[in-house]
Amino acid sequence: MLDNKVIHKENLKMAPNLEDYTATSKYFTYDRYIDELVWFDHDKINAAYNAITKNALGDRKNKIAMYWEGENGESRKYTFLEMEEASNQIANYLKSLGVSKGDRVFIFLPRVPELYMAFIAILKIGAVAGTMFSAFGPQALYDRLDQSQAKILITTSELAKRLSTVKKNLPHLKRILLTDKGFAHEISMQPKSLHVAQTNEDDDAYMLYTSGTTGKPKGVVHRHKAIVYEYLTSKWVLDLHESDVYWCTADPGWVTGIVYEILGTWACGAATVVHAGRFDPSVWYSIIQKYEVTVWYTAPTAIRMLAAAGEDLIKKYNLTSLRHITSVGEPLNPELVTWSKKVYGLPFHDTYWQTETGGILMANFPSVPIKPGSMGKPFPGIIPHIVSDDGHLLKTGQTGNLAFEPNWPSIMKKLWRRPVKYESYFMRVKDLANKRVYLTGDQAYKDEDGYYWFVGRADDVIKTSGERVGPFEVESALIAHHAVVEAGVIGKPDALRGSIIKAFVVLKEGIKPTEALKNELSEYVKKNLAGHAYPKEIEFIDKLPKTRSGKIMRRILKAKELGLPIGDTSTLEEY
Ligand code: WT7
Repeated sequence: MLDNKVIHKENLKMAPNLEDYTATSKYFTYDRYIDELVWFDHDKINAAYNAITKNALGDRKNKIAMYWEGENGESRKYTFLEMEEASNQIANYLKSLGVSKGDRVFIFLPRVPELYMAFIAILKIGAVAGTMFSAFGPQALYDRLDQSQAKILITTSELAKRLSTVKKNLPHLKRILLTDKGFAHEISMQPKSLHVAQTNEDDDAYMLYTSGTTGKPKGVVHRHKAIVYEYLTSKWVLDLHESDVYWCTADPGWVTGIVYEILGTWACGAATVVHAGRFDPSVWYSIIQKYEVTVWYTAPTAIRMLAAAGEDLIKKYNLTSLRHITSVGEPLNPELVTWSKKVYGLPFHDTYWQTETGGILMANFPSVPIKPGSMGKPFPGIIPHIVSDDGHLLKTGQTGNLAFEPNWPSIMKKLWRRPVKYESYFMRVKDLANKRVYLTGDQAYKDEDGYYWFVGRADDVIKTSGERVGPFEVESALIAHHAVVEAGVIGKPDALRGSIIKAFVVLKEGIKPTEALKNELSEYVKKNLAGHAYPKEIEFIDKLPKTRSGKIMRRILKAKELGLPIGDTSTLEEY
């Protein structure tokens, strides 16, 4: 039925690393590939050693690791040896400040070169790196630094101002290092050599906070051994060869910017392009042209904006260096796949994964025909299941909970100090002899050819411009405003951004529901929580629909918004 829409790829510009998906999947075991990484004795492995040191000690030492393009067009480049030495110096500096194995060191920086060097440095000494997106406001910063009990924060004097009101409530935070004040001098005094920590494969490497439906963001912890999966997926899905100039447009404040801009990329020996500026179609195309980018990893929202910018713009640039283009973060509309094939001569390849999975689980591989709109097929070794709410396996074509057997090296190790929440990600499947599977929180189905199709979230988590926002955090930020009694927050479908954040707000008695107040509330959330997590739309209402136990029924707010039937209201307080 779909066959006439399948995109076959006879004309790949280069032989892909994964030539035979079917055979490789059939005979796959990690043991076959484990020696492509550097291990220390006794099964010890360090992810940063495999990303940088390995290359700096070998033939790639004078090869470019990072092309950096600043906001105002300034540019710099760094070889693997330069990255090695710079990160060693930062590592030695951190050690001199008393940072030791397991300590949390957080980075709150825009996309400056120091961010990438510091990240590597932290992993090299066995400390745990945490990254925070530079649009975060005081509340988001406090939540992360407090819950992780971070000891050191690396930031700039400008960004550090956002901590001024919350710093006093962070007793574990011993030092704030400012990259624009004395940092360069301190670093330059440090030795350029370092004995990289021989971490155990299960030792914590980095952590990232991500949102769920309820509660504060959770600290997802990933281990050093994840580098095995970060490397293999970079090699087979992104198809990175050492000759590639690869541009991942994500920020390292999110998982994609860590796994597929830093760790996996460099483990393959490819050069990474970092663009510190904002999205702008002309600037983006000029970066591809200037650096002769070969592999590109971006997100559907950006692709939709590029499509909106039109084909005439594309004709002004030479984009012929591109050979493989990939997407992640939200559903990739089938139209964008066919559009990109038409205008760039290459179809976008959708990939699916999550902060918690630490690497790509489903993908459209370079050597496998694409069904536009599908997330593709499981990575070799990955075993997906579509499961009903009551723990039964569903059949081909039936939509249900997308689950995976928890058998791959980069699955989250734990949630930082949230063991009960961690367990809630797993369920037993009756039809698999009660085997434990990992639940993604997404709904999907498998078609008769083994392709998986994304249907939607099973929970209230909002995806706006590909970024994950928990409704509870936005509600909490709104309630902190003096005019607000209660708020219910949903994702409202939006053609460009996937969803926008919409808030239903109950005001205190006597407060006037004006347009000006709507703007004030939006700005308030933008400033206190985060620049990307504010409600674009606000509607004042008298009362929120709630369950008898007092939970806000966002499902009902959403149905109301979309003019859909309200569904089962048997647990509703009253409506
Ligand atoms: C959620 C995870 C890890 C990459 C960045 C996002 C949604 C992700 C796809 C896709 C449809 C997708 C899911 C998932 N998502 N990729 N290809 N098609 N939906 O990581 O912020 O942890 O979000 O993003 O809902 O659960 P994240």
